[in-house]
Amino acid sequence: MPLISSSSAPGRANAELIDQDRNVLEPGRQPLIADQEAGVEERASSGENPANFPQGVAPGVGFTEHMWYFAVAGDQLKPGKMVGKTMLGKLVLIGRRNDGAVFAMEDICPHQAVQLSAGRFDGCEVECPFHGWRFDSQGVCTSIPSLTNSQCAKLCNIKTKTYPCREEQGSVWVYFGNQPDNPPPVPRAFGIGDGAGFEKTTTTLILPNHIDYNAVALIDTAHVPFVHNAWWWRSSRNLKEKTKRYVPDETGWAIVKHKPSKHSIYKLIGDSIEDEIGFRLPGCRIERLIYGGRTVLSGITALTPIDDKTTELNHTTYWIKTIPGIAPLAVPIIQYFVTAFLSQDKDMAELQQKCLVHNPRLIMTIKDAGTPGRWYFELKKAWNESARSGKPFVNPVKPSTLQWRT
Ligand code: FES
Ligand SMILES: [Fe+2]
Repeated sequence: MPLISSSSAPGRANAELIDQDRNVLEPGRQPLIADQEAGVEERASSGENPANFPQGVAPGVGFTEHMWYFAVAGDQLKPGKMVGKTMLGKLVLIGRRNDGAVFAMEDICPHQAVQLSAGRFDGCEVECPFHGWRFDSQGVCTSIPSLTNSQCAKLCNIKTKTYPCREEQGSVWVYFGNQPDNPPPVPRAFGIGDGAGFEKTTTTLILPNHIDYNAVALIDTAHVPFVHNAWWWRSSRNLKEKTKRYVPDETGWAIVKHKPSKHSIYKLIGDSIEDEIGFRLPGCRIERLIYGGRTVLSGITALTPIDDKTTELNHTTYWIKTIPGIAPLAVPIIQYFVTAFLSQDKDMAELQQKCLVHNPRLIMTIKDAGTPGRWYFELKKAWNESARSGKPFVNPVKPSTLQWRT
């Protein structure tokens, strides 16, 4: 059945008929390219196919491998505490020893499969709640209480799997992949070093979709005037043309430093403010505001799959330390605005999920607003191929100037 694809509003495609069958992306099949069909004008500047999509990619399938994933805010994991989480479909226990070191292990007791995080942790060893077996932070069994003096077991042969775990800029990350001895760098927020000169707070939301869809939404600018309508952000659907320069950067890209747009709340801070935005695999949007040459505000929004249908979003805001004692006042205000903003994205994700259950591989990326979404899939594909083959990763993003209305 044919569908009407779009209106003939300025900057949009003329109404054209799209074959619905070609909208369906099956594994290994090229998705619909709504370019010529939708009348999207190809721009000679980039020479790329509008609405194009990397071949052999099935959105909503698989995760970025050989990668660090945000686990928990460091300040939520005090010494002697542990937390059990599901990450990438696996049960993971994350803990902090009394000496401050963080660790991660499979949250399944190798004895009879009870969650270790339901037991006790004394800041040194985890004790399983079922039969009291104890494990150190390397996952090695140190004690089996039921053994008598005459019974011996080689405890060091009893282990639960561990994961590389690292604390960077005040956040705890866990590595998943086939090269635990050679992991890549942890994704980092811009311009804050180790975070020592900054206050921070983390906001957490659960989104109902596979990480791919949430990652695309995270870097999508076209939804902003439609979804993020608020008196303190944008008052109306007042679309403006934007031009931004993108360059490849680490495992993603960066938007070259620029002045925030006139209708941005950031403009309230003053004219000498600059904005820098970037993206990193596996699904991290990073942004900072620079005032007078110094980073004053920085943030990282990190997506972590809970499983292939649910994603945890953690947004950490860093702001420069100013007046001592102001942080407790700032935290609820920042939490209010960040939660309000991200909840609008969550509302959309919930609407999207209702449709995705009917055709979970439907996705289209239209240039230029959708080009970063396509780059995400190209990055994930290139990164996974590199991780599996051992060949060096070549960032597929090309320096580009993108234009869109938002
Ligand atoms: S199941 Fe953990 S000690 Fe038995
Ligand atoms: Fe958004």
